Parts: sequence; C-alpha cells; structure tokens
Amino acid sequence: MGCPFRLQPDGRNQHRENAQLRELGTAVEVELPDGVTAWAITRFDAMQRLLGDARVAKGIEHWAAMARGEVPPGWPLIDFVAVRSMITADGEAHRRQRGLVSQGFTARRVERMRPRVREVVHELLDSVAEGAPGPIDLRERFAYRLPMTVICELIGVPAHRREELRGCVASLTSSTTDHEETLANQRAVYGLLADLVAAKRRTPADDLTTALIAAHEEDGDRLTGDELVGTLLLMLVAGHTTTANLITNAVVALLTHPDQLALVLDSTVPWSAAVEETLRWNGPVNQFPMRYALEDIEIDGTVIRKGDAILTSIAAAGRDPRAHGPDADEFDITRPAPRHLAFSHGVHYCLGAPLARLEAETALQALFERFSRLALAEPAENLVPVASLVSNGVRALPVTV
Ligand code: HEM
Repeated sequence: MGCPFRLQPDGRNQHRENAQLRELGTAVEVELPDGVTAWAITRFDAMQRLLGDARVAKGIEHWAAMARGEVPPGWPLIDFVAVRSMITADGEAHRRQRGLVSQGFTARRVERMRPRVREVVHELLDSVAEGAPGPIDLRERFAYRLPMTVICELIGVPAHRREELRGCVASLTSSTTDHEETLANQRAVYGLLADLVAAKRRTPADDLTTALIAAHEEDGDRLTGDELVGTLLLMLVAGHTTTANLITNAVVALLTHPDQLALVLDSTVPWSAAVEETLRWNGPVNQFPMRYALEDIEIDGTVIRKGDAILTSIAAAGRDPRAHGPDADEFDITRPAPRHLAFSHGVHYCLGAPLARLEAETALQALFERFSRLALAEPAENLVPVASLVSNGVRALPVTV
C-alpha cells in the first residue's frame, strides 16, 4: 500500500483534490492533521450504500487509533468526533436522542420561523443597502448573520453573548488551529452553553433549549446534562456555518453563471432548484468526519480494517461523473432533480435540512430581487476559502450592490 494522500487543511483547491481522490479509488487512505489517517469515500453510490451500512458506526469508542492514544486531545477535528450528541451516537442511543430533539425541533417550530426568517432577511438587506454601492462583505453582513441570528433565537442565546459564541465556534470548525487554542475554545463554548442551560432552568422561555430541558425532565434520565450541552453545540455549529456557506456558495455560483441567474429571475426555474444544484455542485460540507468500521469492509477491492476511521467525501460525491454524468463539473440548475448527499443519508440525515432550505431560498430570492445590479467585487478565483477540511465556503464575499 502507498503513502496516504495528504489532505490540505487550508481548504484550498478542494475540488481539484477531490477529483484526484476519485481517480485514486472509491476508498482512499488519507492523512489528516497530526498524522491521523482515515479512509475517504469518494464515489456517490458507494457513499450512499455505506451511509446505510450496519457495519459502520459513529461512536468514538470504535476508533482503534483513538484507543491507542494516537489522536491528540487538541486535534483540530476533535469536536466533530468527540461531541456528546446524536451525531456521534449509534443504535438505540441515537434513536433516543434524535427522538428527544425532534420533540423540541418540530416541523411546526421551523414553520413558525418562516415569517421571522423573512423579517431578518429584510432587516439585513436594509443594512446591506446602507453600505451601497460597496464593496461590502456579503458573507459578514448577510449570509452569516441570517443563520446565526435564526439559530441563536431558536436556541435562546441572549444577544450579548452571540459574538463570543461566534468566535469560539469559528475556531472549532477550523482545521488549522493549534491544540491550545482548540482546548481553550472548547472550554469557553461548553461553559457558555452550560450557563445558557442553567439560565433556562431558572427562567424557562419559548425556545429550543427550554423544550429540550422539558423533554429531559418529563421522562426521567433521557437527555443527560452532557448530551443537552452537546446537542446545543451540534445545533449551533450545524445550524449556521453550513447555511452561511450554502448562501455564499449559491451567490457566487449565480453571479458567475448569469445565464442560470436569468432563469431564476424570470421564474423559468424555481429558487429551490438553484439551492439544490448548489448543494450538489459546491455544497457547504467537503469531508465529513467520522465513521468507523465495525468489521473489515471491502469497497471496490480495497479493504477497510475493523477500527479504521472513514470520512464521507460529500463534495467529491457531488461531482462524481458516474452519478451525475460527464457534465458533473457544470453548474446547471435545470438538471432534473439533482441527487446529492449534502445533508447525508440514512439515520443521521440532517435534522435541520428544512430550516436550511427555508433560509437559503428566502435569502437568495430577496437578495437578487432587491439588488438587480449585484456583482462580485473581485474575480471568483481570488476568494479565499475557509481554512477547513469540513467546511466548504469563502472567508469573505466582497460585492457591489
Ligand atoms: C445547508 C445547511 C446544512 C448542511 C449542508 C448540513 C449537513 C449535515 C450533514 C452532512 C449531517 C450528517 C452527518 C452524518 O451523516 O453523520 C448533518 C446532521 C445534522 N444536522 Fe445538518 N446541515 C445543515 C444545516 C443544519 C441546520 C440548520 C441544523 C439545525 C438547526 C442542522 C442540524 C443537524 C443535526 C442535529 C444533525 C445530526 C443528525 C443525526 O446525527 O441524527 N443542520 N447535517
């Protein structure tokens, strides 16, 4: 076996790297920061099968390298694999946690957010208009603020603690932070969320945190204190960076493909199609950590050993020509029902997908209808990607309005 393929943690050239991975095979051994290795699954069909395969699990106790002490405590990706929540739980424990969270995070609660999402979008666009003609950073002023405001209001984070939280979360999703910084941010974010839970226990409110505490207390020992804080962290991280990436990636895609933008503006194609094609072509998640093999698993002639870690290379699957045809690299919103794994598949399918779609569709439609002369202030190739293996987005989106 050759040396593992070294993934660049700075997020540059993700699509080129993914094309190389697909060429190397369906399951490719990759090297992550600190010499930690995993298997990247690079093809759509194999990934979809694996996401429904009972021979893989998400509990960190199944990771042999972790048990051998080879993954340092301040490893930059540690929070994705060690957070105590449904995303790292299997079987009955996963069903129990997901069921409890679903009690609080209902379709009704999301639907009730619809008018508020519209209101926040228009407030933020007013602030964008104040910066006219620009250049202004649309990620900072709009794409990021929308999901951050929505998720903080949903969870019940008081306004004065949001900036602090934002700093910690940005560091937790970076793949280039050093160990001390990762550990310091972990302490800060867990402390802040524990304060939030304590405050909601004292003074319940109409928010998700209160709903999760109630679900916890009504039925005895269902969501433990750790799980509650872990769930809030998961919702917070999952709920805003991804959606911000979706909005920025869609804006870049539409501005660099004016023929496609024209199709949504004249209602030939619905906004939802632009969102779905962005999720496939340049979705918010690149590599998603981790799953572990419960036994030796053969994928297209490569054997993944029991205890090995597996990354789902969601962005690689999104441009897999075997699944999407020879024009997989083209952004084409007229593609009939683009298939993608941007929200994963199987029992861990993203719980927030309806909210993310609601936010992205509302945001894009309002943005382009309001600013008919919206344009990138810099060529798309100069935009700097977020320094992350997991997150696929740009650090800033300078535009003129
Ligand atoms: C465009 C935006 C989003 C994307 C691309 C996205 C992507 C994902 C992915 C890939 C997973 C599954 C990981 C796996 O298979 O292990 C996931 C799970 C999850 N997401 Fe999202 N997400 C988004 C928005 C949201 C939002 C807005 C929320 C909540 C407010 C959310 C909450 C969750 C939760 C709770 C899970 C865990 C589900 C489970 O383990 O059973 N996500 N998301």
